[in-house]
Amino acid sequence: MTELEQVGERWDYAPAPESREIVQLRDRYGHYVGGTWREATDTYTTISPSSEEPLAQVGQGTAADVDAAVAAAREAFPVWGALRPAERAKYLFRIARILQERSRELAVLESLNGGKPIKESRDVDLPLAAAHFFYYAGWADKLEYAFPNSTPRPLGVAGQIIPWNFPLLMLAWKIAPALAAGNTVVLKPAETTPLTALVFCDVLRQAELPPGVVNILTGDGRTGAALVEHPGIDKVAFTGSTEVGKEIQRRLAGTGKRLTLELGGKAANVVFDDCALDQAVEGIVNGIYFNQGHVCCAGSRLLLQESIAEQAVDKLKRRLGTLRVGEPLDKNTDVGAINSAQQLAKIRELVASGEEEGAEIFQPECRLPEKGYWFAPTVFTNVAQSYRIAQEEIFGPVLSVLTFRTPEEAVEKANNTAYGLSAGVWTEKGSRILWMAERLRAGVVWANTFNRFDPTSPFGGYRESGFGREGGLHGLAPYLELGE
Ligand code: NAI
Ligand code: MG
Repeated sequence: MTELEQVGERWDYAPAPESREIVQLRDRYGHYVGGTWREATDTYTTISPSSEEPLAQVGQGTAADVDAAVAAAREAFPVWGALRPAERAKYLFRIARILQERSRELAVLESLNGGKPIKESRDVDLPLAAAHFFYYAGWADKLEYAFPNSTPRPLGVAGQIIPWNFPLLMLAWKIAPALAAGNTVVLKPAETTPLTALVFCDVLRQAELPPGVVNILTGDGRTGAALVEHPGIDKVAFTGSTEVGKEIQRRLAGTGKRLTLELGGKAANVVFDDCALDQAVEGIVNGIYFNQGHVCCAGSRLLLQESIAEQAVDKLKRRLGTLRVGEPLDKNTDVGAINSAQQLAKIRELVASGEEEGAEIFQPECRLPEKGYWFAPTVFTNVAQSYRIAQEEIFGPVLSVLTFRTPEEAVEKANNTAYGLSAGVWTEKGSRILWMAERLRAGVVWANTFNRFDPTSPFGGYRESGFGREGGLHGLAPYLELGE
């Protein structure tokens, strides 16, 4: 070891913990129905996945709770749906501003309950959640311009079910367009991450949103199933696993209820030999290790052009060694905790299958905390397309590397999946970006970047990734009747 390297050894980051004092939790939460708290008959404990520490008791919504919430939303609908659109916009603007005002508190809570690094909840989840409310507030009084030659009318009551990877952001994606269009809502957050949705009820109270316009029920899949099947619901919006999405679609067949599904993915991130490689490496890292890989559009299959494959993998491995894994509330943390024991078990199972099938595993040296749910950033090389780790959604910090020689081969391999949510292309050539984007069967194709989101831009998939779009004007249409 050179002297310089020895000096380098002594340097490390000092702890930079964000204070959790800003978050005031109650011991026990009920359901938010008709603008007040409804006592929960059944409860369970929600925890912090980074420490397994109990955070609060929350309700396990029953059929009676679903009935009450749907009734409250139905009762609120005639008034809310008929409100002057500019008035509806006012409430949405208020919610957006309050989210900004309370963003530090909500970011800390998001990291506490979900395990994601504070720098992500602070710089991505919260700003984007507020941006969605701002954006759809702007459309509320312009619907007839958004959809010319039609008379846009709200559908009624939307039942919305969201996952645990971006709890507050998914809530914003669901609630903002629904309200802008004049619908009322019953929303169920995921069972492992209910807390920001429950604090959001206080945001609604501050915004003086009329009672019943937004109702929040907590609980697991049973509560979700009861909501989906409730006859008082006009539209279901679901984000989560392909398995549950298919089940919901079966349940709704023939009922006349509208449905949009945002499901899983197995995105290809395609890197050509003419790209800016160091930037691409950053994009690959962001593509799969962002939010511990708990991202439906994660770039989980890396396709490297053969001529640069070795160099790219070397650079990637070196970069992985500098990722800081650990305490989500530390501002220097890059990779936080896995969201739940169940998700950790799924990641472990799929990683074991990769090793058994013959892929080569690489994990940087990193000390993982003893308590909580953790998984080191992982790269698999020597992966065949048939391996489970190249086919199935892992939803964890695990990257599978494949190679290709020609653009045609890249397209064929990228499209060799049952999913079709997103893809990435890294190349210096603009013409090649367009050529690839035309052929990649994915709802979103990023060029020389990855995991970029904007409320004005529609997001959604093909095939097993679901149907319907969220974001942009496309995201309003599923909440409107657009007939004459
Ligand atoms: P999940 O699909 O079971 O859960 C998502 C939401 O659906 C939660 O709110 C849950 O309570 C609710 N739910 C569960 N069963 C339901 C039912 N029968 N009817 C109505 N709602 C129901 O996903 P889970 O089990 O948490 O994760 C399993 C896998 O799904 C993950 O490993 C990942 O691969 C994928 N997933 C994909 C997501 C995405 O953003 N596309 C989000 C979450 C999970
Ligand atoms: Mg499930």
